[in-house]
Amino acid sequence: MKALVLSGGMGLRLRPFSHSAPKQLIPLANKPVLVHVIEELRAMEVTEIGIVVGDRPEKIEEVLGDGSGLGVRITYIRQEAPRGLAHCVAIARDFLADDDFVMYLGDNVLTSGVTDMAKEFRATRPAAQVVVHKVADPRAFGVAEVDDDGRVIRLVEKPEQPVSDLAVVGVYFFTPAIHEAVTAIEASARGELEITDAIQWLVTQGAEVTARTYTGFWKDAGRVDDVLECNRELLDRLKASVHGDVDGESELIGGVVIEEGARIVRSRIIGPVVVGADAVVEDSSIGPHTAIGRGCLLRDAEVSNTIVLEGASVQGVGAVHASVIGREASVTSAPADGAAHRLIVGDHARVEVAA
Ligand code: DAU
Repeated sequence: MKALVLSGGMGLRLRPFSHSAPKQLIPLANKPVLVHVIEELRAMEVTEIGIVVGDRPEKIEEVLGDGSGLGVRITYIRQEAPRGLAHCVAIARDFLADDDFVMYLGDNVLTSGVTDMAKEFRATRPAAQVVVHKVADPRAFGVAEVDDDGRVIRLVEKPEQPVSDLAVVGVYFFTPAIHEAVTAIEASARGELEITDAIQWLVTQGAEVTARTYTGFWKDAGRVDDVLECNRELLDRLKASVHGDVDGESELIGGVVIEEGARIVRSRIIGPVVVGADAVVEDSSIGPHTAIGRGCLLRDAEVSNTIVLEGASVQGVGAVHASVIGREASVTSAPADGAAHRLIVGDHARVEVAA
């Protein structure tokens, strides 16, 4: 079985971070979402991976390369414009050839994994197998109607009046039967070739389409609050380990990972927390649920439930909470004589200042 990972799209909901890199590279517990996806694929014993990339392919290639560092082989497939998930299958036709494949949306985070479902698909080979998850309000997703035997009766993309509470998760298993379906459908009202419509086409043709229910944590890391939630979930699963330097005046509590070359000085770290390679934390209180990227500097800072991306610094600022601080950004207190806030904030950024 091969894999097709979708990593194009615009990432508008994750601005300003998607201005400088595709949203699928946002780090969760210090690893880009795409790396979590590839690790999940490896757990399914899938190593031949096609990645659909959009307008900044070089950013993704910089991080993943040819995949050998992650034990997989990556083929990049360029999509000129985000024309829909089924369009991605169509442009990947040569790569996929006549193999079965798992299609994984590059912004989906599933912490319990779907390896059992992959095993079942390999053994039974229905035309398609979707993964569904019960949600309170499924209107923002594909929605599936499923019979008692787990067969899909109907699939609708983002319906105003959902026929069930089963949202379609961004992991799909396909046999080559999907290729005829993606060429048979037309663009939806939002102008995209919907994979939901292609699967519905298979159902209408009488092909066997099954659904399996996933009950663990699932989120599409599309907005800042979702990213923070995914970060918390993944941090909760980290095992404590210290590879950097922690001085005698510092205290580590709970699940704390200190990466190589990081230095912790006179600080209190309350896990789950990860401090990235070569970062420096001095006279600060960090955590819980905080990921500090590689090469960051935190001095006289108090930071919780936050992601600090590579090379950023926070100095002389307390009570930073539920925040995401971008690459190389700097957050400092005003000089002693400065009574005003001074903000040099990037496009589409959001700042909430305590009154
Ligand atoms: O997250 C699950 C949902 O994903 C499903 O329930 C829906 O049925 C499915 O259509 C999809 O809905 P979204 O509206 O959330 O899809 P989104 O546009 O966010 O794209 C999902 C991923 O695929 C994202 O990583 C970007 C990538 N993508 C998207 C499009 C439209 C591409 O690579 N190319 C594209 O043309």
